[in-house]
Amino acid sequence: TATTAQTLSTMAVGAENMGNVKRQLVQLFEVSLQATVPSETDVAPLVDACIAKSGVRFGDYQCNNAMGLWSKIKGKQTEFRGPTAVGQAIMKNLPPSDMVESCSVAGPGFVNVVLSRNWIAKSLQKMLIDGIDTWAPCLPVKRAVVDFSSPNIAKEMHVGHLRSTIIGDTLARMLEFSHVEVLRRNHVGDWGTQFGMLIEFLFEKFPNPEDVNEAAIGDLQTFYKASKARFDSDPEFKQRAQQAVVRLQGGEDTYHRAWKQICEISRTEFHRVYERLGIQLEEKGESFYSPYIPGVLEELNKKGIIEDDKGARVIFVQDVNIPLIVVKSDGGYNYASTDLAALRYRINEEKAEWIIYLTDVGQQQHFDMLFKAAKRAGWLPADDGSYPKATHVGFGLVLGEDGKRFRTRSTEVVRLVDLLDEAKNRSKTALLERDTAKEWPEEEVEKTSQAIGYGAVKYADLKNNKQTNYTFNFDQMLNDKGNTAVYLLYAHARICSIIRKSGKDIEEVKRNAKIALDHEDERALGLHLIQFSEVIEEACTNLLPNVLCEYLYNLSEIFTKKFYSNCQVVGSPEESSRLLLCEATATVMRKCFHLLGIVPVYKI
Ligand code: ARG
Repeated sequence: TATTAQTLSTMAVGAENMGNVKRQLVQLFEVSLQATVPSETDVAPLVDACIAKSGVRFGDYQCNNAMGLWSKIKGKQTEFRGPTAVGQAIMKNLPPSDMVESCSVAGPGFVNVVLSRNWIAKSLQKMLIDGIDTWAPCLPVKRAVVDFSSPNIAKEMHVGHLRSTIIGDTLARMLEFSHVEVLRRNHVGDWGTQFGMLIEFLFEKFPNPEDVNEAAIGDLQTFYKASKARFDSDPEFKQRAQQAVVRLQGGEDTYHRAWKQICEISRTEFHRVYERLGIQLEEKGESFYSPYIPGVLEELNKKGIIEDDKGARVIFVQDVNIPLIVVKSDGGYNYASTDLAALRYRINEEKAEWIIYLTDVGQQQHFDMLFKAAKRAGWLPADDGSYPKATHVGFGLVLGEDGKRFRTRSTEVVRLVDLLDEAKNRSKTALLERDTAKEWPEEEVEKTSQAIGYGAVKYADLKNNKQTNYTFNFDQMLNDKGNTAVYLLYAHARICSIIRKSGKDIEEVKRNAKIALDHEDERALGLHLIQFSEVIEEACTNLLPNVLCEYLYNLSEIFTKKFYSNCQVVGSPEESSRLLLCEATATVMRKCFHLLGIVPVYKI
């Protein structure tokens, strides 16, 4: 069996997974598992979940498969007397590999693996030469839609949309890094009855369309409020507004032009935020899908899924006691009709295998019903893990320090631009208190305080488990100690300065020196570094950016508190090797920053 095992393992470890330790171990264990039991036993379902990182005491990784395997084969004629014996056999049947230094069996058949220092060092060295992109994990999807940010026209983009924008961008970045083609979609709320009122109000205020521009309209949110006040107080205006909706949706020219003008002004405002945050998005707003709605409803109707309910047309779905309304009793379409058309478009036209939506948890039921309706229609398979797949990522509210929904003193919602300004200004003040930064050119101070300020806002959001509410607190997020972007960006800058101070050309060191991991803290750092790929894989699979934040924070802690405290770099006999460890750490940190949408800082 040894030869078979070996051939299998060489086949199984595809080039794509070379940087992914866990995948490579899984592949080794798969071979061993198959060799341990009668050949007709299906070991595949057991393999994937079995390998876990473990505490130092037991080794670096642990395979807990013996119990599962034992329960599959016990009772049949086997040579094993219990899970411990199975574990022993699994260990014995592991194909030879230079990644494993030693194995042991503990408890009821747990197989502990200690990775070889040499192999860790070689993997790091290879990454430094070939680039960190060779550590990208492989995911089972080729194309995904990430529907994020998605603010509403004429309503200011507020801090609730900030979470959608930040989390969505990071998920898109992580998927893109993992070779998934991501269609970044801004599902802007640019269609609906509020436009009747906005357009009528626009006509009233600006009888001459030439006069309409951003400067004249000013803040669209104020404009929205004024038009709403008009709508609520004057029945005659209200009637005109309702007719305006019909005329707009009927495609009447002046109405269409006014609608476009309003959207354009909103768009300019949104883009200012996107530009500051470095967010790329393609707008396909609700209006884009509206021409598809009648056809989609027709299809659902033919399938017998749509029913009448109190004058409306609705879809009933499993385990929810209210129906999904797809045509209102006045004959109009709504948010759900648009989302049905969008989902179908994304599956059929765009051929997305994974469609991911980011909104606050308040919309959970909407998406639950939407996906269930799509399953009834046969657009999505039943929940068996197959593709295409749709996932709603719901996140909690942003709270102020009083524990209530985050607002400014005037109880208005917080404007995103003001928030970003404040984050930047505060970091600038803190930066200028440092002696070094006092001599910097203005441009550099500006760039650095932006990187730190915006990075802090993003990281404070991303490090939380997205489901929970989080408290927005400038002092906390801009603290240079603790789990903040400021601390991490400074840590990275300090590593860069160690390398600079050595006076060595790091590219030359990469080519000529070898990494050695003799000190236990060097090994601990090396081990954490090579776990980057599996962390990204986990963060992508479960759509959890906080997993990446945690990894980055731990990396910085291991570097500072273990490695850098106990292993002298510059001037030591191990200087070259340790400089390479610094460079590998900085490289991984930069990739983490990039995936979190944070701009790195090289000096402080
Ligand atoms: N515009 C919506 C809001 O602000 C979010 C849209 C989310 N995407 C979607 N396909 N429904 O609440």
